[in-house]
Amino acid sequence: MKINEAINQSYKVLSPISKTAKLDVEVLLAYILNKKNRLDLYLNQEQELNPKELDKFLNLINERHQLKPISKIINQKSFWNFDLDLSYNVLIPRPETEVLIDLVTKKISQNKKMKFLDIGCGSGCISLALLDYFYFSSGVAIDVSKEAILNTRLNLKKFNLKERLKLLRQDVFKFHSTNKFDLIISNPPYLKLSDYINLDKSIKQYEPKEALIGDSKDGTLFYKKIIVNLKNNLKLGGFFAFEIGDNQMIKIEKILNINGFRIEEKFKLINNQTRCLLAKKIKNYTLQ
Ligand SMILES: C[S@@+](CC[C@H](N)C(=O)[O-])C[C@H]1O[C@@H](n2cnc3c(N)ncnc32)[C@H](O)[C@@H]1O
Repeated sequence: MKINEAINQSYKVLSPISKTAKLDVEVLLAYILNKKNRLDLYLNQEQELNPKELDKFLNLINERHQLKPISKIINQKSFWNFDLDLSYNVLIPRPETEVLIDLVTKKISQNKKMKFLDIGCGSGCISLALLDYFYFSSGVAIDVSKEAILNTRLNLKKFNLKERLKLLRQDVFKFHSTNKFDLIISNPPYLKLSDYINLDKSIKQYEPKEALIGDSKDGTLFYKKIIVNLKNNLKLGGFFAFEIGDNQMIKIEKILNINGFRIEEKFKLINNQTRCLLAKKIKNYTLQ
């Protein structure tokens, strides 16, 4: 079978289940054939797939047909300037999380010798983007999941950033540090249980539950704990940067204000829901 025939036939298979069927097919075929990019497929439309390549390709189309996300099939996801390796049990980095990095880059000078703490590092996407943008930065990243720690370590090694990040397998609810950071950043689990139950089957099947569920009430448990327990680990003038869920802004802003923080930047989705925020420490509190 030729490349153009493989594209057309598998497009027909995937279009009933995927809004991005054409892109899916092209990414999977480029992956199997080791093409640099999708354009490379169209420059070689007449190339024949050998039986081994065809067999592998059809297997991947079959996996996609069963709603497995593309990033979980090819074990890769683009984020910021990187093609990150992605382990099976680690959350796929989302585009909103890149916006969180954008908010931080607006407020902190690129040349600052910035020290950050990344809570719930997952694939390492946030830490790697920060290390990439802030040339002189260094950080600490924690996650309770062993797979996440291993995945972040793999990506640090891949992009030669190992020396600038300390990785710890830790539960944030038990985490203590004597460090003072310029930035504490987190995209924590923030769904309430009832919203998790209503998610698409493919997300529930292929994404780790522990990465998504915040609590059974309103999903804000992680923010409360992080703000109250770790506010003294931020320097005065330092920032909390959070990705947050729908209808959580008012509650989180209240917790931030009573703990000595002022919201400096927000990113809203078109439905007017705040998805990312940056809050500055304007008062020093001693231990309570
Ligand atoms: C929404 S994911 C974010 C992953 C990554 N930072 C990103 O933006 O793609 C939340 C992460 O928090 C981690 N996590 C869940 N509970 C935790 C806990 N109690 N302590 C530390 N990390 C936790 C999960 O393993 C997961 O990697």
